[in-house]
Amino acid sequence: MARRKKLYEGKAKILYEGPEPGTLVQYFKDDATAFNAQKKDVIEGKGVLNNRLSEFFMTGLTAIGVPNHFIKRLNMREQLIRQVEIVPLEVIVRNFAAGSMAKRLGLEEGTALPRPIVEFSYKDDALGDPLVPEEYIIAFGWASQQDLDDIVALALRVNDFMAGVMHGVGIKLIDFKIEIGRVWDGDFMRLIVADEISPDSCRLWDIETGRKLDKDVFRQDLGSLSDAYTEVAKRLGVLPTNVTHATKPTLIN
Ligand SMILES: Nc1ncnc2c1ncn2[C@@H]1O[C@H](COP(=O)(O)OP(=O)(O)OP(=O)(O)O)[C@@H](O)[C@H]1O
Ligand SMILES: [Mg+2]
Repeated sequence: MARRKKLYEGKAKILYEGPEPGTLVQYFKDDATAFNAQKKDVIEGKGVLNNRLSEFFMTGLTAIGVPNHFIKRLNMREQLIRQVEIVPLEVIVRNFAAGSMAKRLGLEEGTALPRPIVEFSYKDDALGDPLVPEEYIIAFGWASQQDLDDIVALALRVNDFMAGVMHGVGIKLIDFKIEIGRVWDGDFMRLIVADEISPDSCRLWDIETGRKLDKDVFRQDLGSLSDAYTEVAKRLGVLPTNVTHATKPTLIN
């Protein structure tokens, strides 16, 4: 069978041409990167877990009417998605201070915020994805005011969904990042959730112990990243068999 055409290879995923116009195949790699790819490693099984987890979250969003790019999972590492034109912003929603916000404001990690805060950074690796105010976004034409209002509304719906799902399995949703894309139905443009939702793009803390179950485990060398992601997948009941490390064959009788 002819190999699909590779359209883009990023740090965590590869995009291939999809079977029909307007579709793509998204392949989840095992590569982990942090600090704008200054720190790198291969985490066996990460791609499999993120493919499953992103499917789980996107499917849940579809069920509550939040439009997103997910069509169906194809196999352990690939899913069929709707092709979008990515809005060049990382849309970040924060419920508790952590990461760059904690640093910038001198807040202790985990400090509850008075309300969820949505912020934007401009997607440009060479610049280190700088935080940008809405005024820049509108002035430079990356999105209109109407788009931004829609994006904030979408992001807050994703936040409520994710926070609720996570709370149900004893996990606190500290913050997360999503990407938004444009699709056209005729002349009518809609904004939908794209890219991925996984522990690579969220901060997740165990409610009881405060244990980190997200990419900070890798950023801060806190132990096994695949154990952390496996824990999230297990709690959500989305762990496929034979996920991570090679296991001995088991006899089925
Ligand atoms: N539905 C979609 N249609 C088109 N492009 C998409 C879609 N979903 C995600 N993308 C893009 O696919 C790429 C996914 O690859 P990956 O996440 O590995 O990239 P990355 O290394 O983080 O780089 P980037 O800075 O471009 O995000 C990203 O550029 C993302 O914006
Ligand atoms: Mg990315």
